[in-house]
Amino acid sequence: MGLRRLFKRERTTKEIRDLYTRGAWLYELDDAITLFSKKLYRPLILNRAKLRGDETVVEVASGTGEMSKLLASKLKRGHLICVDISPGTLAIGRRKIKRLGLDHRVDFVLAAGEKLPLRSSLFDAAVCCYALDTVRDAKPVIEEMFRVLKPGGRVSTGYKGWARSLLLSIFDRLIWEPYLRLVWNCGAVEIEKFFREAGFKGLVKEERMNGYYVFIHGEKP
Ligand SMILES: C[S@@+](CC[C@H](N)C(=O)[O-])C[C@H]1O[C@@H](n2cnc3c(N)ncnc32)[C@H](O)[C@@H]1O
Repeated sequence: MGLRRLFKRERTTKEIRDLYTRGAWLYELDDAITLFSKKLYRPLILNRAKLRGDETVVEVASGTGEMSKLLASKLKRGHLICVDISPGTLAIGRRKIKRLGLDHRVDFVLAAGEKLPLRSSLFDAAVCCYALDTVRDAKPVIEEMFRVLKPGGRVSTGYKGWARSLLLSIFDRLIWEPYLRLVWNCGAVEIEKFFREAGFKGLVKEERMNGYYVFIHGEKP
């Protein structure tokens, strides 16, 4: 596989799955590597899902379970389904949820976000945290989140955009993006239109760190 292809984020879904399975332990250090900025904004994604606590929620690309912990803690009378394509990250997420004693509220499903093995119109909320910038193609993943939501169901997501402030953007473009693309198949995406095209309404886009993080939430009409 040529380096150019890696930097262009052209890995196949199978390659991404293997990458995260091999590197699951390293991804555990990601919050620290990102100076806890990812961690800082997970509660924002949780809040925008507007959960009461009795809902059925799907988390797509749940990874090592950092967002799942927040969701499961909130869903005192509800249920969470965590879906990820990587057995490695999914296993770590499962262990964390069990350690917290929340496993009765959570199921783990090994599957691709592009083809969720879940019934249509079943969920009150769909969450995807820092992963639409990692998947091979975000469009079918967003369409699947729309499909499995009930009418009135909420979508809440966060992903990497392009930082606009001069210093951050120089660092991002020269150092950070190449690192993310090579090591994590991750990189800034502009995918707002996919939410509209999927059919979501009431879409709100928020940015943090000068556009470095983008958060989109909305509703299935
Ligand atoms: C950057 S991690 C994000 C993990 C987690 N959501 C978090 O908050 O840290 C990306 C995750 O997306 C998963 N992934 C990548 N492509 C996927 C796909 N097509 N379907 C489902 N999961 C996928 C990877 O296995 C990995 O666990």
